Parts: sequence; structure tokens; C-alpha cells
Amino acid sequence: MIGIFDSGLGGLGIFKKIKAMLPDEDIYYYGDTANIPYGEKSPDELKGLITAGLKYLEKKGVNIIVIACNTASVLDTTYFRRQVKIPVVAVVPVIKTASNQSRNNKIALLSTKATAISPYTDYLIEEFAPEAEVKKIACSGWVEAIEKGKVSDHRLNSCLKKVDEEDVVVLGCTHYTLIKGDIQRLLGPNKILLDSNEAVARQVLRVMNKEKLYQHIKKPRYIFDASGHKKKFQKMVDRYLEEIA
Ligand code: DGL
Repeated sequence: MIGIFDSGLGGLGIFKKIKAMLPDEDIYYYGDTANIPYGEKSPDELKGLITAGLKYLEKKGVNIIVIACNTASVLDTTYFRRQVKIPVVAVVPVIKTASNQSRNNKIALLSTKATAISPYTDYLIEEFAPEAEVKKIACSGWVEAIEKGKVSDHRLNSCLKKVDEEDVVVLGCTHYTLIKGDIQRLLGPNKILLDSNEAVARQVLRVMNKEKLYQHIKKPRYIFDASGHKKKFQKMVDRYLEEIA
């Protein structure tokens, strides 16, 4: 069984890709909605919450965990890997792909505040896009609005207006991939929008191959669990799974 972890609904895009690539595996999705948003919390607080979430999934019997939350993975994936005994795959912003695709070497990175100020994000930029100018834009309030399913153009524009000459825009928070269509509509067709969902699913496939984790379930189960209000969570899960590609 594959475990997927996020602060809330953000990992649903990754869930969908994994389900399509590995259609005969059980998936246990866990959102730490009692503690959302992660993006405004301190590193110490986040470490405790994320470790608890990963251990919770491990206890549920998953044999691999996907950290579907950039805020968590840029914090300290090495640390989180040491907290559980099973393989961990983590999402990070696709800076390298962005650098390959930008024609003018100007990239915008949309993320939570914690991801924007993380030293690991700076490392990714220096390592994988040393020639590019990367504008980091922290989009406060987006995660909460997406969780509620109430995202106004006005809220999105307050951040998107900062995207200027950048021709490639990286979605560095998994929640934003749930409203990719709205972001593209507001930015216009000339901006290239990139997210990590597909790349993460491919990495899960690679690790499962290597570690021989396949279970080949005839009738796979998809469980959605949350630390907060479970019924509300399920309602929003159903809604976004219908909406997103
Ligand atoms: N989906 C998480 C991410 O990718 C959102 C973090 C939050 O809860 O603020 O960063």
C-alpha cells in the first residue's frame, strides 16, 4: 500500500498520477488538516507534525510514503527519511525543468512562505538554475482558500501580478496544482506552468520497482484520512478529484 502525506488536499494531483500509473495498488492518503496551513509554521513545529504524520502512515501498513508537500520536503527530507523504516519519496519544485524551458532565463516560483525562505530552495536554485533569475513569490492565503474550495480571482491576482517578464512559472506548492487551470487563465497562454506531480509519480514507480514493493491488488482501495474533520475532507477530496486532470 502506498502512503501519501500532505497538510491537506494538496497531494491529490500526485494521488491521481500515481493511481493512473499504478492502478493495482492500494493507496492511503493522509492530510494533516488539523494543523494546516504548514507554510506559516516554524521549522521546529513542522518537524514534529510531519514526523507524526509519517509515523501514522507507517502504522497504517503502507510500504512506501510520498511526501506530497513541498513545505515539508524542502525543510529536511534526510531527517524525515530517518524517522520511518520504509522508503520515502518527496516532492520538490521543478527548478531544473524550468531552467531548461525558459527562453529568457527568468523564472517565477510560487510557493508557501516557508518554502520561499527555505535554504534548501536557494540550494535548488543555485544547483539547478545557476544562470537563471528566479523570483520567489510567497502566496499567502492560497492554501486555506483552496482547502475551502473558495478561490477568488482577486486573491490569486494579488500574487500573480508579481509575475512579470518570467516566462516559466513553477508551482512550488502542491495545493496550487489543484487550481492550475485558474492560474493559467489569469496569467495567459504565453506563460509555461510547471508542477512536479508527474515526476513524483514516476519516481514512486522507480522506487517500487527497485525495492520490489508491488502488491498487485485485484480491487485496490483508496482511503482518504485526515487529522481534522473527516467528512468535510472527503467532500473536498471528491470535488477536486473530479475537477483536476
Ligand atoms: N501542499 C503544501 C505544499 O506543497 C502546502 C503547505 C501548507 O499547508 O501551507 O507546500
